[in-house]
Amino acid sequence: MARIIGGLTSSHIPAVGAAYAKKQFEDPYWKPFFAGYPPIHKWLAEQKPDVAVVFYNDHGLNFFLDKMPTFAIGAAFEYENQDEGWGLPVVGKFKGYPELSWQIIDSVVADGFDVCSCQEMAVDHGFAVPVQLFWGDQTKNPIKTVPICVNTVQHPVPTPMRCYRLGQAIGRAISAFPSDEKVVILGTGGMSHQLDGKRAGFINKKFDLMCMEKIVDHPEELAKISTHELIREAGAQGLEFILWLGMRGCLGDRVKRLHQNYHIPISNTAAGTLLLEKAA
Ligand code: DHB
Ligand code: FE
Repeated sequence: MARIIGGLTSSHIPAVGAAYAKKQFEDPYWKPFFAGYPPIHKWLAEQKPDVAVVFYNDHGLNFFLDKMPTFAIGAAFEYENQDEGWGLPVVGKFKGYPELSWQIIDSVVADGFDVCSCQEMAVDHGFAVPVQLFWGDQTKNPIKTVPICVNTVQHPVPTPMRCYRLGQAIGRAISAFPSDEKVVILGTGGMSHQLDGKRAGFINKKFDLMCMEKIVDHPEELAKISTHELIREAGAQGLEFILWLGMRGCLGDRVKRLHQNYHIPISNTAAGTLLLEKAA
């Protein structure tokens, strides 16, 4: 059966995508952020996962406010990135894995999660930036991907616990997939940030560090936070942290933290990078 080997988290903000495209890795503003990645690159080079299952949120590219699924799972052969108006270069297509997508969709629907299945899906910075940060240019030797899109944009949004439970259901689905492949789970976005309104620029380091700590060994306790409290503590867009809870749900009870980096700010956002290895 397929084996989940670990989970990764990464910021997804467009400014990172732009810095990546311009190779500003040594630029003083960007250096402390990009410094969070080489230990993960090393682990990926050693472990060689075959598939990335990516929890992300769409920001208006594929779904707009008129049609907003709570959970949408990609089941396409490939996923196009498109111009979102952030000034980012459009990158090449991402490779899909419809067989695993359908395994996950069939299994989570049977488990009571009524997801939207997408045989055509465009992916925005929420997906494209982290996949590039971890695996680089996807035109050569691309990693197979399954996008798990969660609504964090328009209320009502799913609760943190619901995302954690979806993650657990996806974890069960992957572990029942007949293949000997290795799977890594991504939770993208976060950490605290708010892009508009009176609290624009809001960052809460204390809360972020508490989340990075608790998600390792006490994720279920962390997932009990209400949507309102999460927004109060992390900002309106800091709600993206529910994507991390989805990732963590997939990993099961025991994980080991192999690497962590926290840096503020990049653009308007706190960036948290984690590498969690699933205990055997
Ligand atoms: C920024 C953060 C986001 O989560 C996003 O989707 C777009 C921009 C920012 O901080 O600039
Ligand atoms: Fe975002």
